[in-house]
Amino acid sequence: MSAIPGKAPSVKLPPQIESGSELLLEELGRLLTVEETLAKVVLPELLRELQDKELLTAVDDHLQETQGHAGRVKEAFLAIGAMPAGRPALGLEGLRVEHKAFAPQVVPGARSVVHCAAAMGVEHYEINAYDSAIGLARALGAQEVERLLRANLDQEVAALQTLGRHASRLARLAVEERTVSQV
Ligand SMILES: [Fe+2]
Ligand SMILES: [Fe+2]
Repeated sequence: MSAIPGKAPSVKLPPQIESGSELLLEELGRLLTVEETLAKVVLPELLRELQDKELLTAVDDHLQETQGHAGRVKEAFLAIGAMPAGRPALGLEGLRVEHKAFAPQVVPGARSVVHCAAAMGVEHYEINAYDSAIGLARALGAQEVERLLRANLDQEVAALQTLGRHASRLARLAVEERTVSQV
């Protein structure tokens, strides 16, 4: 195998996660970090940026739900006799960093479109994580975990649909405003 010049050879550790139940704990840990980071950092940060009143209300409503999501993920840990413990969620951090770098490049009149798209990106990320964890819980026969996670998933899907409606409205608004200013 050819080594990359200037790069130390990578040390391959053996896989640490050996069973489906260990994998479920990892996924729950990632979900816990995601929900807590969204509730405490990402959504409050986004709310401070929002100018559009309707989008602000939608995001604020989902912030209230998100606080409940973290609680349900903790309950899911307890349902399988484990202590709630967060795991890294690098995908969420990536979405956040990307948005913080990109949004200021957009004129204020069109920035709501970008904020809404970022919020939708987070919902897609959550939905993917819940789908995966629910599949594992179902395969393991962990019915209470599945029920708790599905309750969160339903709210993520509803939030995504609501944000999708705002995205269409905001896109039209941004295009119309731009058209008016060009006349
Ligand atoms: Fe959530
Ligand atoms: Fe969400």
